[in-house]
This record gives sequence, structure tokens and C-alpha cells, in this order.
Amino acid sequence: MARIVYDDRTAAAFAATRHLAPDGLASWRAAVARHLPTTAGARVLDLGAGTGTWATAFHAWYDVDVVAVEPSAAMRARSGYPEMVGGRAEALPLAAASLDGAWLSTVIHHLPDLPAVAAELRRTLRHGAPVLIRSVFAGRGGGISLFRWFPEALWVVESYPSVAEVCAAFEGVGFAPVALEPVPQVSAASLREAADRLRRLAHTPLLLLDDADYARGVRRMRAAAGRTPDAPVVDTMDLLVLR
Ligand SMILES: C[S@@+](CC[C@H](N)C(=O)[O-])C[C@H]1O[C@@H](n2cnc3c(N)ncnc32)[C@H](O)[C@@H]1O
Repeated sequence: MARIVYDDRTAAAFAATRHLAPDGLASWRAAVARHLPTTAGARVLDLGAGTGTWATAFHAWYDVDVVAVEPSAAMRARSGYPEMVGGRAEALPLAAASLDGAWLSTVIHHLPDLPAVAAELRRTLRHGAPVLIRSVFAGRGGGISLFRWFPEALWVVESYPSVAEVCAAFEGVGFAPVALEPVPQVSAASLREAADRLRRLAHTPLLLLDDADYARGVRRMRAAAGRTPDAPVVDTMDLLVLR
């Protein structure tokens, strides 16, 4: 079962608050280029592309052809990337051996049948093509600043797949892990800005908290923003690469 439904309300909150500014994307530009084929004409899948942030960025940065697949009509409707394809990770609407790489950003915890997803990526990727997974994994949520104010959300992350679980699913169809890199990003220019634009609906771990824990977290975050309003918000997520 899906953790959350990407309907009009969640899609609107996501579109309004989860886009990273160029500063935040810069560290990912370098990290992705270390692993993804970026030569002109390479065909790259953005799986669970959401509102198209990464498809747009990859297209601009690397001159690659991006195929953006996203199941939610509400997310596709808000996409800044024009060519969104409806589809699910477990049954990709793509030909065999037609891709030079795949990118999954904050999607892996929404995919309950990881072996089925790994098998679809094995089918659609050319031999040796990489899968890049940007995520918070179980046991590795310490780099997310929101969890300072919402510590109970870290327990939600413990229900996400671990690196070992993801690797086991992909190893089952012939992939092997080649890198695990923590990548820091600037998520907001200031803590005040982050507190002002926080939308619960845009963050799966906050949606799954109970209301009292969420309300306490908001008070903690606002109090911290009052003390250090100009502190930039830096979060560190993992990049897991398999080939
Ligand atoms: C947190 S959003 C991330 C969106 C985008 N990748 C980003 O980083 O901005 C998670 C996305 O995963 C998508 N998703 C959920 N279940 C999926 C599935 N079975 N196959 C592909 N995408 C899925 C959701 O519709 C949603 O757009």
C-alpha cells in the first residue's frame, strides 16, 4: 500500500515548497555527473519524477534525453518538465534495453515491491547502465535538519528501506552497489524562510506523525528560527549507485 497519496492537495504542497534553489542543486549536479552518462543523446529515466525538478535540471545541465515517468496525474499536472509520461516503477511503459541510466529521487520508500522495481530497471536499462538513488535510508536519517525539530519523524524513517534492503533487491537481478555518497545540499537560504514555508503535506515523515508531535515540532522550529533566523538550512541525503 502507498505511504501517502499524491492527490491535488499533496501535489500542490509539494510543488509549492519542495523545489530546491540553484544553490541546493549544485552539489547534486557534481555528484550525479560522477555516475550518470551525461554525453549528448544519452537516454536517462527520471522515475517517480514528481513535478519535474530533476528532469528539468538534468536536461539543462547535461544535454541528455530525459524520460520522466510519474504515476500521479496531480504531480504531472504541476510539472515544469513538459514531457511527463504516466506510469509506475513496477510496470515501466518503456522498451527493453532502451535506457543509459535511471534516477530515483526520494521515491524508493514509496515502492513496496522493490524486487519488481529492480526487475523492471534490469529489463529497461542497457547492460552496465547505472541506477542512482537519492534518498534518506533507514538508519541514516541523521543529516536531515527537520528531524532536529521533529525527532519523532526519524522513527518514520526507520520504516524506510535500508541500504542493505535496496541492495539485496537489486542484487537479485544482477546489479551490484558501486557507491554510497552522502551529499549535502542547501535546502533553504535561512531557517526563518524554512519555518515560514513549511507545509506538512509536502513531507512524508511529517504527514505520518501524530498531530501533537507535529505541533510540538512546529513550535521548536519557530523558536529556533527566532534565535538564528539567518542560518542556512543544510541537509545531507545519500546517493546510492548500483550497476
Ligand atoms: C517525494 S516525491 C519525489 C518527486 C521527485 N522525484 C523529486 O525528487 O522531486 C515521490 C514521488 O514518487 C511517486 N511514486 C509513488 N509511487 C510510485 C510508483 N509505484 N512508481 C513510480 N513513482 C511513484 C509519487 O507519485 C511522487 O511523485
